[in-house]
Amino acid sequence: MSHAPRLAKLEDLNELVALENQCFDSDRISSRSFRYFLKKGQAQIWVCGAPINAYALLLFHRGTSLARIYSIAVSPDARGRGLAKALLEQLESAAVEHGTLFIRLEVKANNHAAIKLYEQLGYKPIRHLAHYYEDGFDGIRMEKPLMAHASRQAAKEIPFYGQTTDFTCGPAALMMAMKRLNPSQALHQIEELNLWREATTIFMTTGHGGTSPAGLALAAHRRGIAAEIWVSHEEPAFLDSVRNPDKRQIIESIDADFQQQCQRNGIPTQLGHFSLSDLGDAMARGRQILLIISTYRFNRKKEPHWVWIVSIDEQFVYINDPNIDPNDHREALDSVYLPVPRAQFEQAMKYGQKRFRAALLLSAQTK
Ligand SMILES: CC(C)(COP(=O)(O)OP(=O)(O)OC[C@H]1O[C@@H](n2cnc3c(N)ncnc32)[C@H](O)[C@@H]1OP(=O)(O)O)[C@@H](O)C(=O)NCCC(=O)NCCS
Repeated sequence: MSHAPRLAKLEDLNELVALENQCFDSDRISSRSFRYFLKKGQAQIWVCGAPINAYALLLFHRGTSLARIYSIAVSPDARGRGLAKALLEQLESAAVEHGTLFIRLEVKANNHAAIKLYEQLGYKPIRHLAHYYEDGFDGIRMEKPLMAHASRQAAKEIPFYGQTTDFTCGPAALMMAMKRLNPSQALHQIEELNLWREATTIFMTTGHGGTSPAGLALAAHRRGIAAEIWVSHEEPAFLDSVRNPDKRQIIESIDADFQQQCQRNGIPTQLGHFSLSDLGDAMARGRQILLIISTYRFNRKKEPHWVWIVSIDEQFVYINDPNIDPNDHREALDSVYLPVPRAQFEQAMKYGQKRFRAALLLSAQTK
């Protein structure tokens, strides 16, 4: 029997759903989701057999060098013949062609057959995921680097907190960076919301406002973390996204008050252009960095978004992205230690026509 996998087509939908139902009791991929994956360019489904008796689903993570094995299954009567191995090898070569640096996946902690399979192919556990599955079972995240890569820091033990509202990326990113500096930092929703209330400019384009660099710097300072602000423009961030004059006036007064408080508390602001290599230098001096990026390259939405930079090397910027968008099939830890090629990141680190840039540099010792 030939093991040669082929790419699935929309006509394969019913057979894929039947196989899924045969192989999994919970966390099944629905017919609707399969349809979405089959049509969407960011995913590939490879299948074997006629009728289909094995499939594997690979998701690419837009704008990053990460891919994820979202699912793999072989029908019970076709197991033990090397189909899963053939599919995984196929996914890996598709990922390499796509420029992928790491493949990640999650597996149930008690799925010994699958864990053995992944280990045999060189996947290593990088994180334990408590109660990750619908039925309460723990999961294990595994990873395989696809290209030789020298200075990689282990993705283990990097704090992660996912924002629980649309407007709290800043607080969530700040909590992760503060946790790095101070292991007793709380990572829960009340802390996230308190930080937002301290740091928000109240309004932005529509809905609630996000958090400004000065507001976040003050919130960090109150928690014993030294903060320094780098901004490209003197005016309040995103003021021109708000047309209503009353709202603009509120944003301006809050900004003026934040600036005064920063001065009183000795929080320095450096005004002007800064580059990715400036951020790399600051990291080398032990600073934790929060940065506003435009999300366009990652989700095609042009939103300003705070992320925490975990590490920078010659090729990649690694970020923890507090946003977990279930529509993008990105789950919590897929947002951890995301490798973004430097050139992509340089494009993402400025926002809007004015190319607004803002970073917050944090360190443990308050001066
Ligand atoms: C896990 C699964 C995909 C393996 O498929 P398969 O086609 O039988 O696997 P292969 O024949 O390609 O086996 C490759 C390697 O996997 C490991 N493996 C596969 N089945 C195994 C089992 N029952 N026990 C222990 N190791 C096993 C072995 O290391 C094997 O290599 P070997 O034959 O040299 O010992 C299949 O059992 C399955 O579909 N299970 C249900 C769905 C599932 O759990 N999917 C994974 C979700 S993360």
